[in-house]
Amino acid sequence: MATIGVMDSGLGGLSVLRRMLDILPSERYIYYADSAHCPYGEKSRDQIRERCFHIVSMMIEEGAEAIVIACNTATSAAIADLRSHFSVPFVGMEPAVKPAVGLTRSGVVGVLATAGTLNGEKYLGIKNRYEGGTRIVESVGRGFVELVENTCLRGEECERTISQSLTPLLEQGADTIVLGCTHYPFLMDSLKKCAGSGVEFIDPAPRVALHLKDVLVQNNIGLASGGEADISLYTSADPEKLQKAYSTLLAGYPEVNRSEYRP
Ligand code: DGL
Repeated sequence: MATIGVMDSGLGGLSVLRRMLDILPSERYIYYADSAHCPYGEKSRDQIRERCFHIVSMMIEEGAEAIVIACNTATSAAIADLRSHFSVPFVGMEPAVKPAVGLTRSGVVGVLATAGTLNGEKYLGIKNRYEGGTRIVESVGRGFVELVENTCLRGEECERTISQSLTPLLEQGADTIVLGCTHYPFLMDSLKKCAGSGVEFIDPAPRVALHLKDVLVQNNIGLASGGEADISLYTSADPEKLQKAYSTLLAGYPEVNRSEYRP
């Protein structure tokens, strides 16, 4: 059984954890939601890096053999430094621009992400690489993280908030939209409703889960041969609230074994 640490600023990484559970259903997972410091999107690189080092150290002490930084903003700010400091393998997130460029028919790809991700060198490098025949336009999903943190995933308020950030992308002709923040896939139904037909949204989580499996195999980290996943939730805020949110967002997935406060 492999022990996998998964971290995010809050609930967003659960959109990645569910895809990991789809293809690696029997491993041990330690999920850390840094909800006391959420959102990361407007924080400085140094603040995010400091939190990541602290959380990753804690997860390694708890036995994590591989770490998934299930947060685009934290990946952009910290993964290079984490990789050079710790010896465990890391898997990070990045906006799935490459598949979107292959899919668009209008020739315009939209990217929804936090300001931290869109201003980071990592994203600018990706944009440079894939822009050419395709136009790539961006929008910060203002208020999206807060909607998900409050498990407000549908309804009028939700759609109003979504439309404010989504409309500029649609007006520029985007027909394929990359969800560049792990919170956003939980808003998929409302995003689709606001966009109408003919617009495709890309959640990178299934690809990240497949990549994690490859990384575990390449690093000779033994996988379980069966049985239920062992899931621990840790948070810098309220563990009961996190467990409740898990039950709502990951309904139908294995139950949580423990949920604890960790500053
Ligand atoms: N879920 C995160 C991401 O993928 C961070 C959102 C935030 O805390 O601003 O970027």
